[in-house]
Order: sequence, then C-alpha cells, then structure tokens
Amino acid sequence: MAYIGFLCLRSLYRDSVLYCFIWGWCFSLSIKSILAKHPIKGFLAEDEGEHLYSLALEQAHLGPCLEVGSYCGLSTVYLGCACKQKNSTLYAVDHHRGSEEHQQGEEYHDTDLYDAVAQEMNSFPAFRRTLRVAELENTVIPIVASSKNARCHWGTPLSLVFIDGGHSLETALDDCVGWSRFLLSGGILAVHDIFEHPEQGGQGPWLALNAVLASGEFDLLPQVNSLGVLRKK
Ligand SMILES: C[S@@+](CC[C@H](N)C(=O)[O-])C[C@H]1O[C@@H](n2cnc3c(N)ncnc32)[C@H](O)[C@@H]1O
Repeated sequence: MAYIGFLCLRSLYRDSVLYCFIWGWCFSLSIKSILAKHPIKGFLAEDEGEHLYSLALEQAHLGPCLEVGSYCGLSTVYLGCACKQKNSTLYAVDHHRGSEEHQQGEEYHDTDLYDAVAQEMNSFPAFRRTLRVAELENTVIPIVASSKNARCHWGTPLSLVFIDGGHSLETALDDCVGWSRFLLSGGILAVHDIFEHPEQGGQGPWLALNAVLASGEFDLLPQVNSLGVLRKK
C-alpha cells in the first residue's frame, strides 16, 4: 500500500515538474515570438534575458519583482512574462530621460527617442508600446521617477530586484545597496553589466555588487554573460 502511495506521489511530482518545464518552455517561446514580431530596442543579450526570466519564474510567487532601468522594455518583457505566469507584479522604475551615455552626442544616443520639442530623451512612449504589444499592462506597473525618489517611501518586500539604471559607481552603489534592503530572505539581486576588468567595461556595477556581497548577507550565484546574481541569506 505504502509502495503504491509512493509510486503515485512520484508520478505526481514527475508530472508537475514536467508541467512546469513545458509551461516555462511555452512562455520562453512566446517571449521569442513577441520579440521577433515587435523588435524592442535595448541592451540585454538573449542569454541574460532568459536567465532573468528563469530567476523571476522561480521567485515571483514569493512577492513582487522590481527593475531599475527599463529603457524601451526589453528586460521588462523577460521579467514581466515570468511575473504574469506567476500572477505576480513587476514594478518598472525609470525616469525615461536616459542615462549619461544616451544623451545627445554620446555613444548610445538614439534620435528616435529624442523629444525635440522638450529637448530631452523620452523612452516612455516606446516603453508603453512594449507593454501593450507584450500584453503586460496588467502585470507591469511603470514608475516614472528616479530610482532614489521611487525608493524614498518604499515599503514592499520584494522577491527579485534587477538593477540596470545609471552605471556610475555612485548611482550603481545607491541602487544596489538601497533596493537590496527590500529583498525577502532568499530574494535575488541581479545586476547588469558586471565587468571584473576595466578593459571589458565600466566598473560601477561590479564594485557595487561586490560592496553588497561584502556585507555578508548574500551568497554569490553563477554569473551569466554580464549578469551578476546574488541571493539574500
Ligand atoms: C541601460 S538602460 C536599461 C536597459 C534595459 N534594462 C534593457 O533591457 O534594454 C538604463 C536606463 O536607466 C535609466 N536610468 C538611469 N539612471 C536612472 C535613475 N537614477 N533612476 C531611474 N532611471 C534611471 C535610463 O533612463 C535608461 O532608460
């Protein structure tokens, strides 16, 4: 009798793992088809996006996720689809005025995102279009504000925080230290553009991630491409 019970439980477990795997696979296929049909400007490699998606999928049932630095919504689609699948919420913080490197005359300036009347960058219309085409308007809550202002009265515990805002040491440190305080135990801090050596890229995010790690409150998880990941103890 006990053996039959064991067999039933094992097959239930196997079926639920298979079910999650198939669901995850279908959703990641649907992200690919959204991106193929509606190209979204952005700065995230496919392996980084897929890793963000799996991290959020494993975390989102514990509480909402939050990203700093949405730009036109590429990372938002990966995180948002995982949150949608888990009936959770993604808060997407960005002032939509661009980082230093997006301003006129800088390396990553994009004239399509420049508001000539206001004479400033504005990625918010493109971001809203992304939420619409990806059917994420009921899952993603845009917060059009600087990261510091969005955080000053924040009180909601978070299951995952993704940082991809300003890349100076001062801003990256403020974002990583400031937002990681709201992570639940077991929560994930993911940081984009982690380059250990200066010849690979700017050091702000790497130094910020290491400052959080030095607190002793986090464990280091494997890095995927330039996506650094910590888990709160
Ligand atoms: C590198 S882009 C983000 C790319 C995006 N994650 C993607 O997947 O393509 C950086 C974004 O951070 C935003 N940003 C920079 N500093 C910020 C700050 N202090 N507060 C809020 N947003 C900020 C910029 O407006 C810009 O849209």
